[in-house]
Amino acid sequence: LMAEKGGFKHFMLKEIYEQPRAVSDTLAGRLFPERGEIFLEGLNLTDEQLRGVEKLNIVACGTSWHAALGGKFLIEKMARLSVEVDIASEFRYRDPLVDEHTLTVLISQSGETADTLAALREAKAKGGITVAICNVVESSIARESDGVIYTHAGPEIGVASTKAFTTQLVALYLLALHLGRVRGMIDAVRCRELIEPLLSLPRKMEQALESDEQIQTIAREFMHARDFLYLGRGLQYPIALEGALKLKEISYIHAEGYPAGEMKHGPIALIDENVPVVFLCPINDTFEKAISNMEEVRARSGRVIAVATEGHVGPLGDVDALITVPETTDEIAPVLTSIPMQLLAYHIAVLKGTDVDQPRNLAKSVTVE
Ligand code: G6P
Repeated sequence: LMAEKGGFKHFMLKEIYEQPRAVSDTLAGRLFPERGEIFLEGLNLTDEQLRGVEKLNIVACGTSWHAALGGKFLIEKMARLSVEVDIASEFRYRDPLVDEHTLTVLISQSGETADTLAALREAKAKGGITVAICNVVESSIARESDGVIYTHAGPEIGVASTKAFTTQLVALYLLALHLGRVRGMIDAVRCRELIEPLLSLPRKMEQALESDEQIQTIAREFMHARDFLYLGRGLQYPIALEGALKLKEISYIHAEGYPAGEMKHGPIALIDENVPVVFLCPINDTFEKAISNMEEVRARSGRVIAVATEGHVGPLGDVDALITVPETTDEIAPVLTSIPMQLLAYHIAVLKGTDVDQPRNLAKSVTVE
């Protein structure tokens, strides 16, 4: 069994370490920087169809839903198209607004989640265009959608999703870029600029993995907390949700993800010296806002675990733990900040002695309602 896990103690850890390779595979054959273009082989939709899209929905469950929230940000920014994000079990029963000019993107690692499959069928029944972002090739959702973007992450065995998530984010970045390009919101030069950070991404992910041992030490220090808060703004907000979900799923510690700016409307009441607050604050346009949120936490004796950008840690001041990731663009940073989220949850779970790859009550793929 150890051999199956490639020498790693758990599938989850193996899959965390596979991410640089997985992301390279998501990108393979799809980037044409010289021409300033993205090629998505299975998309199966003409440029004309993509130009006719008036509304875009992204529908998913669980971790894939967190990727969807990131996708909204990326597509609205690059394609200037309004995006609605839905949880599949909500979308399917809401008589959703879908017509022939609506593109519904279904995200599913397994391609078999019952609610997501039902949402796809609902969107199709209403005459909408559908595209799946799936990992499992020839899965039901991949087969029934008009087009598919495979993430090519390779088999994911650990119930807690890791490499499937980061490759979904990358696939969404490619879709956003392609939509922006086809719809005339991005020219070839800009497209090339936006491809650039993807080329160094696998290497930067390797660097982010180098914090593993340090994160293990942090895990030891914080493992006894009963509640964790995860905060981030913009694209880091879905990563905060995902960080909290990872911790809940495998360590059984209560955790909540929140948009950092919304903290003052509720969660701030929970903060005291017993509540670690994970701050996702890579350098970006809202960096200073994140710092002032951090000060609000410190003023209430909260313990801060900051995830920041190498070379941009000075303004953070005193933090209880600091993890850095390499510098990249705001749109790519979530792929890097996801890595310490996974490692922190993983090490806390291992220290607590839970069944990391098969957490209680959870299934890898929920094929019944
Ligand atoms: C289950 C898994 C999660 C996953 C979710 C959606 O809850 O435990 O890890 O994110 O299903 O799965 P999907 O295969 O549709 O992405």
